[in-house]
Amino acid sequence: MIILAVESSCDETSVALVKDGKEILSHVVLSQMDIHAIYGGVVPEIASRNHIVHMTRVFEQALLESKTDIKDIDLVAVTKGPGLIGSLLVGINAATTFAFAHGKPLIGVNHLIGHIYGASIENEIKFPALALLVSGGHTELIYMKEHMDFKLLGTTMDDAVGEAYDKVARTLGLPYPGGPVVDKLAALGTDTYHLPRPYLDKTAYNFSFSGLKSAVINLVHNAEQRDEEIRVNDMCASFQASVLDVLIDKTRHAANELDVKQIIVAGGVAANRGLRNRIFNEIPDKDIIIPSMKYCTDNAAMIGAAAYYQYQKEGALPNYLLGGYSTLNIED
Ligand code: KG4
Ligand code: ZN
Repeated sequence: MIILAVESSCDETSVALVKDGKEILSHVVLSQMDIHAIYGGVVPEIASRNHIVHMTRVFEQALLESKTDIKDIDLVAVTKGPGLIGSLLVGINAATTFAFAHGKPLIGVNHLIGHIYGASIENEIKFPALALLVSGGHTELIYMKEHMDFKLLGTTMDDAVGEAYDKVARTLGLPYPGGPVVDKLAALGTDTYHLPRPYLDKTAYNFSFSGLKSAVINLVHNAEQRDEEIRVNDMCASFQASVLDVLIDKTRHAANELDVKQIIVAGGVAANRGLRNRIFNEIPDKDIIIPSMKYCTDNAAMIGAAAYYQYQKEGALPNYLLGGYSTLNIED
């Protein structure tokens, strides 16, 4: 089954052609990161406009590189949310138009489910599985009994982990997106600031990172007032050590309690080198899968992979030309 997948929920314009959820026939990702870096974060209006400018070209390039005839495409899949509404609408319009024009069925994929299935491109998911989903907007522990079956165990009460990384980076005067920079500098520093570990209740699966973020901001502001230097590498190492202690301990606890066969780590923060190194050492008795870097941050290949399993469970929206058309519901 060949799926043409589209992702445009934030600031990446991406189209991929994916065969049977695994084989990536083509994968084009156009990042707007450099444009938004000037503003220190994603500006929604600028993101939507850039999707409009580049979507057709990204579509064409993905089709060309896949060496696939349009008639051989079986299904069109598109991210239906959560995400920035203007950005989502550009991808949804492009995918809907393509499906309509070529008489293909259409499927809307939840972005978070897409992130989880990014891990299934290069690995086999074994059930029951536990997903630790860590991104710019979400921090979640999800139990999966089987494909496309999700039970939310815990989520963040305030800042998502990627968001906390980005805000801490900004406080330290580091560029956007902060996650990769803090990760890099953390490797050069030591955990000497001993920041709090926000466990809430140690056995609870919810997260909270705003207190930790505020602890960094207060330390930086106090140092500024006293005209003292902040050791940036050590601060990054301290922040990262605190975040990873909490993420890994809660994941281990949930994995043991629910006796899962596998742990899936997914989302933009799954690209974190500290997390990728530590989790294997600190939960050695569990099978752990993490997508390779290119499938961690936002991309259409993960949407194509998720759509393959979703289609088997739910089918697709019928194309107008094939009799009846329902519009996609955008998800919060
Ligand atoms: O999944 P994603 O691309 O977009 C959302 O769906 O949110 O995740 C983006 C987030 C940003 O907050 C970024 O700073 C963070 O992932 N991130 C990282 C790393 N690479 C990206 N955070 C920590 N360490 C990294 N290496
Ligand atoms: Zn994402």
